[in-house]
Amino acid sequence: MSAPFYITTPIYYVNARPHLGHAYTTIVADVATRFHTMGGGDAYFLTGTDEHGDKVVRAAQKENLSPRVYVDTISQLFRDLWPELNISNSDFIRTTDPAHMAVVEMVLQRIYDAGDIYFAEYEGMYCFGCERFYTERELVDGKCPDHETEPEVIRESNYFFKMSRYQDWLIDHIRQNPEFIRPKRYMNEALAFLKEPLEDLCISRPKARLKWGITLPFDHNYVTYVWFDALLNYVSALGYPDGDLFKTFWPVAQHIVAKDILKPHGIYWPIMLKAAGIPIYQHLNVHGYWNVEQSKMSKSLGNVVEPLELKNVYGLDAFRFFLIRDMSFGLDSSFSEDSLVQRINSDLANDLGNLFSRVLSMVHKYLDGIVPRVDPPAEQECGFGLESDADSAIDAFEDYMASFQFHNALQAIWKFIGQMNKYVDVTAPWELAKKKSTRKQLEAVLSNLLEGLRVISGLIYPVMPDTAASMQKHLGLDCTGRFYLLERIRTWKSIPPGTQLPKSVVLFPRVEPDENRKASAARPEADAINPVIKDEITIEEFAKIDLRVATVVKAEAIPRAKKLLKLEVDLGQKRVIVAGIAEKYTPEELVGKQVIIVANLKPTKLMGVVSSGMLIAAVDDEGPTLAILDKPVEPGTTLS
Ligand code: MSP
Repeated sequence: MSAPFYITTPIYYVNARPHLGHAYTTIVADVATRFHTMGGGDAYFLTGTDEHGDKVVRAAQKENLSPRVYVDTISQLFRDLWPELNISNSDFIRTTDPAHMAVVEMVLQRIYDAGDIYFAEYEGMYCFGCERFYTERELVDGKCPDHETEPEVIRESNYFFKMSRYQDWLIDHIRQNPEFIRPKRYMNEALAFLKEPLEDLCISRPKARLKWGITLPFDHNYVTYVWFDALLNYVSALGYPDGDLFKTFWPVAQHIVAKDILKPHGIYWPIMLKAAGIPIYQHLNVHGYWNVEQSKMSKSLGNVVEPLELKNVYGLDAFRFFLIRDMSFGLDSSFSEDSLVQRINSDLANDLGNLFSRVLSMVHKYLDGIVPRVDPPAEQECGFGLESDADSAIDAFEDYMASFQFHNALQAIWKFIGQMNKYVDVTAPWELAKKKSTRKQLEAVLSNLLEGLRVISGLIYPVMPDTAASMQKHLGLDCTGRFYLLERIRTWKSIPPGTQLPKSVVLFPRVEPDENRKASAARPEADAINPVIKDEITIEEFAKIDLRVATVVKAEAIPRAKKLLKLEVDLGQKRVIVAGIAEKYTPEELVGKQVIIVANLKPTKLMGVVSSGMLIAAVDDEGPTLAILDKPVEPGTTLS
């Protein structure tokens, strides 16, 4: 029994629907987990959703939902997708799970008690998209490199985590464990970052600004920074500190992330673990980014690739195969539907699919579908080293899979498929079948080919589990048990002679690119949640909302609040309303306009200004568009 294995994906933000990038990481984790079980060991595979923080609150507001309803809805989209992609996760964690929240509080308190968290006033440049402060040197032309927006200057008292104290320790740890962050290019990236002095990490957000988070156990006016909360999922899910899962699996922990989140995982996380007295994880496996037709996948470009759509059109195993085969783990890759189609037709339909149906149809045609008993001299004469080719393929497969070079592992299998195809051509079973005198040779050749297919069916298991099982079934083997154990795969001649094989199937039909679908995929993505119609209300309930027409009499910007305008409106009486419309409307164009407001909304303070009411607007990706009447009416007129 090999050692246990623990693998995690990032927990995904619930501010968008799952896309190709999320699917890729999760499929890689699934492939790594399934590979591990081929050695007979226990594996634990964790994925989940990251549900706190500003980003999520803003996404919920956009959908007009409370954060709670919103996170439940999007988290469920992820949870529902994984079985569709044959993901074998052991658990699905949510950062809103009470058990997780308790662990976050415990660890915060522990680090605070140890003196590694301090309180200080800080003025810095804050990117709301990233939910963090930026230093001057991290900005590109004064803008956040990810969001390409200028950060806002914020002055706040906050709690800080003394990361600087652990900088030298981390450099040593990375240097002494060259496999800690892999592939090497990302280890070098982390070390390059550590050449500059490490700044302490701001780990709190005042509740006045953000309530949707985990309250600091030592100061109830603050919630914790979303990354401090999120990273701890990797231990809270195992029942840290005393859980059995934690004892078994944490010592062998490995994470998979893409390069976008190397820094929180390669720098913050090991330091957090060290400060909390938790052993450091074993490996951080970092992969590159999927671009789409050479550009970054993004909602605004309208090129977000939906994994379910591809799976439904091209088949699940073909989709999984393409992702694993076409990306060299660690490097970026470009997705296009044409390359997916090309892969399916060449590697799956031609190479593997043809070999499989060719061999099985010969066994049916020449041997009535019965697995032959092999004559040793004929075997010697017709072996042509196929068994040792299979052994080499298995060895290469194992090495590559264990070191996260999945594309090379598949290449090793396909090299063997090529050798099998050549073996068919060289031995020409159709010639052997012509004469009675070469019957034994024919049987030896077909027996070898069946064995080769059996080996292939086992090796493709982590990437294409359904196809593996289907091949096994058609080779007359039990596809329900652990047929994929490496030990079994290695045992040459393990299909029992005399087995009657079922009729063959086409494993992978050739496909054509679906032009209609491609056209529809090019359209901008729908909203994160299809418009959710809220629960029914009665007319009496609706009548409680006092909607009024109001004329804007004055409008001005609010200093340091890029999105907000302060409006004075007249609805028979004057009042002030703060509206988040500054990015779409100038103060000048608003004066004199008649708008619709909710007049009886409880007043609230925004950036120090009391707002008494709310403007009605349609909000989409472009921002807000005010609702207006088609002709002027008396200010204060009600709407019903
Ligand atoms: N919530 C944080 C992670 C916290 S983990 C403690 C987060 N979430 S995310 O939804 O933005 O997911 C980022 C991850 O999604 C990437 O690291 C990668 O695993 C996957 N991908 C998202 N887009 C991707 C591509 N275009 N290509 C490949 N993987 C990508 O960051």
